[in-house]
Amino acid sequence: MESIQSIDARQIAPREKHPTIFQMFDNLAAGEHFILVNDHEPRPLYHQFKNEHPGQFTWEYLEQGPEIWRVAIGKPESVVDPTVGEIIAADFRKAAVFKRHGIDFCCGGNKSLSQAGKEAGIDPEVLRSELNSAQWEPGGGTLDRFQTWSISLLIHYIIENHHNWLKTKLPEMTPLVQKISKVHGANHPETVKIAAIFQSVVDDLVPHLQKEEIVLFPYIEKMVAAEKSGEEPPRPVFGSVENPIRGMEADHQVVGELMDSIRELSGNYTVPEDACASYRMVYGFLSELADDLHQHIHLENNILHPKVRALAQKLGV
Ligand SMILES: [Fe+2]
Ligand SMILES: [Fe+2]
Repeated sequence: MESIQSIDARQIAPREKHPTIFQMFDNLAAGEHFILVNDHEPRPLYHQFKNEHPGQFTWEYLEQGPEIWRVAIGKPESVVDPTVGEIIAADFRKAAVFKRHGIDFCCGGNKSLSQAGKEAGIDPEVLRSELNSAQWEPGGGTLDRFQTWSISLLIHYIIENHHNWLKTKLPEMTPLVQKISKVHGANHPETVKIAAIFQSVVDDLVPHLQKEEIVLFPYIEKMVAAEKSGEEPPRPVFGSVENPIRGMEADHQVVGELMDSIRELSGNYTVPEDACASYRMVYGFLSELADDLHQHIHLENNILHPKVRALAQKLGV
């Protein structure tokens, strides 16, 4: 007869708690679970599971206080299919694998691993094993550290580093993008299309940054303050914080697709032989813009928004 193991966290020294629990989890076979007993709600443990084993564990409360918490923690029967965004948010080293296969982990972050693999023409099983063995690769980035940042710090960084850069660069570069389309449009008709698409990117991004800075981010800060003070957060005028978050993610998708068209039209930002200095400067800028937006959207879609969704659930807003 199968016996369910249980582990009483109250009996384990604080430093040993999480390692012991994760060791027990590692020893489980698919479909098995164990019961964790604790004297408070094990939220930090839950978040550690979510970060380290996204989509690969089950978590069910059997008793929720006030004195004892009992949680059934298990491994699911079938292989779970986490999204690309969940994988990358838990461990940014995996970015190198996605990059290698041309899988977009920013705007395409909501796709499941199998779907993303299929679309990139790679067997999802092969992709899964490459991801499992992904180690640190030079140039793989250091974004994983953002996962440990607080919500307020992330917002501050996004505004200071990404929004302010865009606010300076977009107006500065717009006349130059238009100029090269006028000067070189006859010989390089793609520059005319690129200028039109670039204008759409600007027209989408300017109000998008404003919506984040004036509506979404200030409300998120109120949620953070409410969590600290223990008071109820104010009811948002937009119903639920999920609504503006979804709106922002839809905008990201549109901008991502526009930037993809620019990359294709420009042959991966390859300047023609007869290009003048302005032409080179514009292509250099467009390439830099694509990289910057990748990082910016990754931070929002894969790091900030999941943190805010978890906080919203906790606060009941
Ligand atoms: Fe943003
Ligand atoms: Fe955004």
